[in-house]
Amino acid sequence: MADLKDKVILVTGGTSGIGLACCQLFARSGAKVVAMSIQEDEGKALAEQMAAEGHECLFHLGDVSREEDVQAAVDMAVERFGRLDVAHANAGVLRSQKITDLTLEDFRLLMDVNLLGAIWVAKHAIPVMREHGGGVICFTTSVAADIGFPEHAVYCASKAALVALMRSLVTDHSPEGIRFVAVSPGTIDTPMLAASCEAWDRPKEEIYAEVAERIPVRRMGEPIDVARAVAFLVSDEADFISGAVLPLEGGTLALPPW
Ligand SMILES: NC(=O)c1ccc[n+]([C@@H]2O[C@H](COP(=O)([O-])OP(=O)(O)OC[C@H]3O[C@@H](n4cnc5c(N)ncnc54)[C@H](O)[C@@H]3O)[C@@H](O)[C@H]2O)c1
Repeated sequence: MADLKDKVILVTGGTSGIGLACCQLFARSGAKVVAMSIQEDEGKALAEQMAAEGHECLFHLGDVSREEDVQAAVDMAVERFGRLDVAHANAGVLRSQKITDLTLEDFRLLMDVNLLGAIWVAKHAIPVMREHGGGVICFTTSVAADIGFPEHAVYCASKAALVALMRSLVTDHSPEGIRFVAVSPGTIDTPMLAASCEAWDRPKEEIYAEVAERIPVRRMGEPIDVARAVAFLVSDEADFISGAVLPLEGGTLALPPW
């Protein structure tokens, strides 16, 4: 297990799926965690569960697309734990549509949560990290940044934009002691993925079994697969890694195009 003892870590979208697994793993590894999301009940339940286990995890209710909410989450970490070592910009939404059916509302939601939300995290985490001698910012992008997902043009664009954002931040801020990394999940069994199956006229289990058959390792990913990778990337053991995108897709990107 990566050594995260006493690291102060903010995770956006920290109350479901990948973000939830990250908060739980980080807190159980000795980190002091702030989970941010728009899910109040889940957030309170997470904070209570971690406290009952003797770990530190606070919940901050907020919308990442609102700059003041992200700033408040960063402030909470600093006020309660004295600094911010790691920020994981993980909150995301998935909406499917052909570009010909796209509404401005769909576009704004995808970009505001998936891209602008991560921009606010970087904007407000960097000055605090700089003041305290450095830190790590991790982005959750997606293999959708590399693969043309059908009927997900704007989701794909929002995830590719995160990678470009990260690379530019590397050149601006790595010399200040701040590292930037990204995880790029493939198909991970989360509420987001389950919701995306609802539009299909078949049981989720059947779809999942077929998807698993097409993945070289013959299983879908679990949120903990991503959490373990993030734990390593944000730990001091990964100190020479900046600007890297780690695919977590069971080998899918290695498949030949036939
Ligand atoms: N599940 C997958 O297969 C998969 C694959 C690649 C990338 N991803 C990415 O991983 C990340 C996590 O996805 P997940 O599958 O765990 O989804 P999820 O729906 O289970 O969790 C998403 C989290 O984001 C939060 N969130 C949504 N809108 C928000 C907002 N405006 N402000 C603050 N929080 C908000 C939700 O409350 C929730 O906690 C997303 O960025 C997603 O795009 C997921």
